[in-house]
Order: sequence, then C-alpha cells, then structure tokens
Amino acid sequence: MDAPFIKRGLPKIQPVFAPVPSEFPTSALYSSPSLGRLWRKVHLACSPFLRRPAVRRLYQKPAPQLLKLLRGPYSLIALGCADGTKEALLLKRLPKPAYLLAADTNLSLARRAALRLPARHKKSCKIDLLKPLPAFHLPPSTIHATRHPRLVTLFGVLPNLDPLPLLRRVAKTMRSGDLLLFSANLAPARSGFAGARKVLSQYDNPLTRRWLESAAQTYRPKLFKGRLHFGVHPDPRQKSLARIEARWIAPKKTVTVFSSRRPTTAQVETWIRSARLKKLSRFLDPRGEEAVWLTQRQG
Ligand SMILES: C[S@@+](CC[C@H](N)C(=O)[O-])C[C@H]1O[C@@H](n2cnc3c(N)ncnc32)[C@H](O)[C@@H]1O
Repeated sequence: MDAPFIKRGLPKIQPVFAPVPSEFPTSALYSSPSLGRLWRKVHLACSPFLRRPAVRRLYQKPAPQLLKLLRGPYSLIALGCADGTKEALLLKRLPKPAYLLAADTNLSLARRAALRLPARHKKSCKIDLLKPLPAFHLPPSTIHATRHPRLVTLFGVLPNLDPLPLLRRVAKTMRSGDLLLFSANLAPARSGFAGARKVLSQYDNPLTRRWLESAAQTYRPKLFKGRLHFGVHPDPRQKSLARIEARWIAPKKTVTVFSSRRPTTAQVETWIRSARLKKLSRFLDPRGEEAVWLTQRQG
C-alpha cells in the first residue's frame, strides 16, 4: 500500500457481522422522525393520559406546591419531553418559565415541544439520557437565569430506561433549590407481576405492533425474520421488578425490542432514596396505574 494513501486515511470499515444486541437501545424506537410519528399515533390512541381525565389531572396537581416552592423566575428543563403535551398541561397552571430547554433523543419532537411551550427564552436539543447528562448550559442572553431554580420534568421516560441509574444521572445535575417532577407507570396490584398482566392489553394492540415492527425492520444489523410477542418478565437488573416486554422471536435469536417497567409505589420510592433525592409529594391516579412524584436533592 503506498504511503500517501495511508496518510489520507482509509474509510472506517464496519464489521460485516456486528452482533445484534439482546435488547434494543430505547433510542432505536424513537430517534428517527418516522418512528417518532408512529409512536405518537400509539400515544394518541392508547395512552391513558389522553383517554382518562384522572390521569391528565396528575400533571396539574403539583402546580400549587410548585408555585410556593419556586417563588419567582425559574427555568424548565423538559427531559424526554416528546412534543411537550404533559409539560404544556402543567404550564397552564404556572407562570411562564424564564428559560426552557426541551430535550429528547428525537430532535424533531423536542423542537415541537419548544414551539408549543411558553417561555421567555427557549432552546431544544437532542440528548441521550443513557449518558452522563450535560450541565444544561443556558444561552448568554439568559445568563442571569443561571441563579434561578430549575424545574426538571421527566415524564413517561422512567418505564423505558433503567430507572435507578437514570434518576442518579438526573439528580447529579441538580443544585439545591432545583426540583424534579417525574412520572412512572405503575403495576395496579400488590404484586408488580399481577398488576403488569392487568395492563398488558394497553401494549399488545395493532398500532403498537406497527410501531415496534417498523423499529425491528429498520434496525441495523438486520434481525432474522421473526414475530413480535408481548409478555411480562422480571427486569434483568432487578428481579422483583415487572417489565412488560415486546420480544422479537426468531429461530436463532430473541431480542427484547421494547420494555416498560411497572414498579409498585414502594419500589419507586426506594429508587428516589437511592438516587439521593427527597420525596416532597406523590400524586397517584385513582386506579393506581400511574403517579407523579415531586422531589428535590437530599441535603
Ligand atoms: C414514552 S415516551 C414519553 C414522552 C413524553 N414525555 C410523554 O410522557 O408523553 C418516551 C420519550 O423518551 C424519549 N427517549 C427515549 N429514549 C431516550 C434517550 N435515550 N434519551 C433521550 N430521550 C429518550 C423518546 O424519544 C420519547 O419522547
């Protein structure tokens, strides 16, 4: 091989047989615009948030307490916000934030959220919540806002990502006076597994299948021909935690394409303490399928 060619550098060679992971990263389900659109269709048709007013009310109930705690200008950091529907509902009961950061793995959804949510200064960005989080830099025009308390929202994300490491990463970015408001889908029964089986039909339906099959078909490296199967399984990292999983079953390999954790309230509150957060309030759906927690950093 001649030297000049080496100097210019060879194109990076991708391994031909890169292994298919046993579990899809969540970004593989949401990050492309077309998958984002398919997810939104599922959300519009199946989400208890849109079908049940009691669930929608959960996202406004924290407002009176937030008003007392924030007392003045604040910034809103909306993590995994999709198009910001839940944050928009909350903001109907709060003053406009001085600064808004809408962050999601799907940038087009984060942009939609930034457009719809009211704020004096706005920014949207692509983020990977699986990685250590950035310090949420504010633009120079809002530098005075660096002293404002920040309200961080994390709605609907905890079920999809490993919850305790995620809460720890978020808690690390918080300063004293910051607040974290997050939601979790719960198992509506004493046992997480019995509860998860009760709500399985919210997942195993034609629209969700279309979204997940499309993610499986577009995933690279390619999966073998297979079929999607929904079931309830123990979380591999916490055996007592129930996960609703959609598995791609093929002759040579089974891949977990999607998973949604269904903890009990006690399990969520153990994560809160382990992430060095303090629970200020909990707002629970009357059917026990979903709850919102208001927390702040310990100490
Ligand atoms: C179930 S949706 C919830 C969306 C919205 N917050 C709600 O509650 O309606 C999960 C959201 O998390 C985002 N997401 C998934 N994995 C992510 C990751 N690794 N980093 C950042 N965002 C992620 C998705 O794009 C999607 O918007």
